[in-house]
Amino acid sequence: MSVSCVRKHNAVRSDGSQARRFLMNFYDRVQGIYYTEVLRRLNDVLSPTNYVEIGSRTGGSLEIFGCNSVAIDPTFSISTNVIGKKPTCHFFQMTSDKFFEKYSLNALLGGPVDFAFLDGMHLAEFLLRDFMNIERQAKANSIIAIHDCLPGEYNISARQEGSESQRSATHPEWWTGDVWKIIPILQKYRPDLHIIPVDAAPTGLILITNLNPENTTLKTHYSEITRNIVSKYKEEEFIEFWRSISVVSANKLVSMEDIYEYFWL
Ligand SMILES: C[S@@+](CC[C@H](N)C(=O)[O-])C[C@H]1O[C@@H](n2cnc3c(N)ncnc32)[C@H](O)[C@@H]1O
Repeated sequence: MSVSCVRKHNAVRSDGSQARRFLMNFYDRVQGIYYTEVLRRLNDVLSPTNYVEIGSRTGGSLEIFGCNSVAIDPTFSISTNVIGKKPTCHFFQMTSDKFFEKYSLNALLGGPVDFAFLDGMHLAEFLLRDFMNIERQAKANSIIAIHDCLPGEYNISARQEGSESQRSATHPEWWTGDVWKIIPILQKYRPDLHIIPVDAAPTGLILITNLNPENTTLKTHYSEITRNIVSKYKEEEFIEFWRSISVVSANKLVSMEDIYEYFWL
């Protein structure tokens, strides 16, 4: 898919102060290899033993992993062979919150989660809970991959899918929700994590490691964080966020040597 980069410079807001704003879009920074291809390379090189996926829909990402797997989605729509050579594959047709109320990943998988892909409900507080629940059952060098956290423009990150804001976007057919907010949140509350934003098309992939299952900071600050999700992190913060991060090219995650620079299992 080719995406043209449109920059609208120097849009002036007539709010008395004539504050000068830069309304930008950042699609040119997420033009790397398609996200499923990045996941495929990570699986091929790292060969995880245990995989968890939140949000599977048709199984397009689940199919990539050949190990013991747990897939969670309230509405699966699978019509191809996504099980392949997996020794075990558990399907839970329910929300991730319901799943974590009732089940233990460690018990299902017989050990800690090696690799997780979070692509379920695309609202920041849901993703934050998914992250916290997975980290509790992971180990330090496990990898949590998160989809859609690098939206090329603010309008596709509205909290309401199909909103007027989304309809006026350059790519109104895409909706990422506001999951991008998890990055500034984790940077603020969990500076110990290694957070690697990757330019995987079309809306980025975030790879997180150096996890700590014992860390309770996010739990302690959960109410304050979720209050801020709605009241803070507006478009100005979105632009600031894009300016502050350095995005790694997916081309740097090709060979075994490339991938071992960041990850090992
Ligand atoms: C973008 S799709 C997943 C696509 C898939 N990961 C892939 O790459 O092929 C998002 C999925 O999240 C699921 N979902 C929505 N709310 C959820 C929740 N609370 N818990 C888990 N999954 C959820 C939806 O049913 C949908 O199938």
